[in-house]
Amino acid sequence: MTALATTGVSKSRSVSVAVSSVTTQGDSIIRVQDLVKVYDPNIRAVDGISFEVRRGEIFGFLGPNGAGKTTTIKVITTLIRKTSGSVIVDGIDVDKEPAAIRKIIGYAAQEVGIDDELTGRENLRLQCALYHVPRAEAESRIAELLKAIDLEDAADRRAGTYSGGMRKRLDLSMALIPRPKVLFLDEPTTGLDPQNRSAVWEYIRRLNERGMTIFLTTQYMEEADRLADRLCIIDHGHIMAEGTPASLKGSIGADVVTLSFKENGGANPRDAAKAALARIDGISEIQEVEGGIAIYARDAPALVPQIVLALNDGHLDIAELTLTHPTLDDVFMKYTGRKMRAEEVTPQRRTPWGARRRRPM
Ligand SMILES: Nc1ncnc2c1ncn2[C@@H]1O[C@H](COP(=O)(O)OP(=O)(O)OP(=O)(O)O)[C@@H](O)[C@H]1O
Ligand SMILES: [Mg+2]
Repeated sequence: MTALATTGVSKSRSVSVAVSSVTTQGDSIIRVQDLVKVYDPNIRAVDGISFEVRRGEIFGFLGPNGAGKTTTIKVITTLIRKTSGSVIVDGIDVDKEPAAIRKIIGYAAQEVGIDDELTGRENLRLQCALYHVPRAEAESRIAELLKAIDLEDAADRRAGTYSGGMRKRLDLSMALIPRPKVLFLDEPTTGLDPQNRSAVWEYIRRLNERGMTIFLTTQYMEEADRLADRLCIIDHGHIMAEGTPASLKGSIGADVVTLSFKENGGANPRDAAKAALARIDGISEIQEVEGGIAIYARDAPALVPQIVLALNDGHLDIAELTLTHPTLDDVFMKYTGRKMRAEEVTPQRRTPWGARRRRPM
């Protein structure tokens, strides 16, 4: 593994954490404090984040493209060096004993790291060799994994002939060869169809039930909501919110009415809408968001008629109105002012600087 030189750029900005600061209760297996990573030339990919992952939980790192998810995971897994801050994994400091950390973690990179020329079984054998798993034990471990990920029938076929879902599953099982305490999964289901995605979720849950701590990054709200015990929302290198999916949704404390407007050629419809709605009792907040406004209210269904009438009186033509109970989408919108659309993610989007093959850790 190539260790990158640190850039020596020190933390120069304070960070605002929208919902809560660092969690300190429980038995933490990962502690990240004021982590900063600056890439050349002065790209602040991670800008002073702090969080903890508790032993035995599924921790989700949710954020859009370029938020800093992979960078954070690479620092924690010792693949790249941080600029500043501190990272402790199971009591071990990444700066002091990176090799000791590598012994207790498994990592499935965002980019699948399997060798297409080898069969599934051979890929797993190679991984066993890299981790010095004794031969006799390797075969039984491989058989067990192939069964668990439902690849027994395809085990002796070239991985190059596998579907996207099969490749992701094989890749995930490669990360399990060292029997890690903590498993890092960087976007484990990106590019998978719903059926394959559910199968991977199920498998992640089973691993977790057996006591493995799981750190996963995702751009899918639903994935974070369904899988994560706790999560951080990260955007532009900052943690915007942190908590359980339920507490984050609860932090909105209201239903959400999202509105967009038809072009009327005149003044900014958002300002006009805010003015028109100002007199309605029961609205707790009106926020300008991409494409329109979001209205937060405890009993929004009862208010919708008044909202429509008030906008009508203000000569504002509604293009679309949606009423939702809070979802993580709304949480993201509340803390960033933007919608996070996972469907815009290109499934096989790849970065030229990414590692092409899995490396022994
Ligand atoms: N090696 C690098 N050199 C320069 N800039 C980088 C490098 N790696 C990442 N970046 C930049 O750092 C920022 C964060 O990237 P990162 O890959 O951590 O985001 P991400 O949240 O994983 O995004 P995605 O969902 O697209 O995988 C981006 O602006 C990216 O372009
Ligand atoms: Mg990434």
